[in-house]
Amino acid sequence: MSNVKPVPASQSHVIMTELVLPSHTNALNSIFGGVLLSWIDIAAAISAQRHSKMPVVTASIDAMNFVAPVYKGWVVNLKASVNFVSKTSMEVGVRVDAENPITGECFHTASAYLTFVALDRDGRPAPVPPVLAETEDQKRRQKAGERRRQLRLQQRQERNP
Ligand SMILES: CC(C)(COP(=O)(O)OP(=O)(O)OC[C@H]1O[C@@H](n2cnc3c(N)ncnc32)[C@H](O)[C@@H]1OP(=O)(O)O)[C@@H](O)C(=O)NCCC(=O)NCCS
Repeated sequence: MSNVKPVPASQSHVIMTELVLPSHTNALNSIFGGVLLSWIDIAAAISAQRHSKMPVVTASIDAMNFVAPVYKGWVVNLKASVNFVSKTSMEVGVRVDAENPITGECFHTASAYLTFVALDRDGRPAPVPPVLAETEDQKRRQKAGERRRQLRLQQRQERNP
């Protein structure tokens, strides 16, 4: 853990809204997973930068599932915030909801957890301030983020013993 003053979780909050255009869709008029993934990566990168105030790179994206289709003309709402910081890396959680603009109905489409690493001027991993979790939800996300970080370390160790 760094000695730097913790940064409130609310500081890294990002809300990003996109409209699904024909160029984003496949032959079924629903969105390509890769387009959604790039929006998720962008929302999460902005969140990690808001927290760290440093340039960041995506180190990993946890396995994720697309649980409902999103159609041409619909609106995609992404919410991101930093859940947990270890030293130079941050876990960012992103929730994606699709909105049918005609009926106003909203559907949970995907949730994703990404790890970003902050870099110093020489491009080396640099320490990041811890997250100050203030609400019950933020505390729950911080604990869950810490558990997922342990799991990722275990999995990396298993892959590269
Ligand atoms: C991410 C990167 C900076 C890590 O560099 P590294 O030399 O492995 O650095 P370290 O081993 O010191 O690890 C730095 C931190 O990253 C974390 N990390 C490294 N690889 C990771 C991975 N695959 N998943 C999650 N975290 C990872 C480490 O756990 C460490 O976290 P901590 O400081 O909070 O304990 C480096 O691998 C890189 O530049 N990757 C390419 C990033 C990129 O270009 N992304 C865009 C998409 S391709």
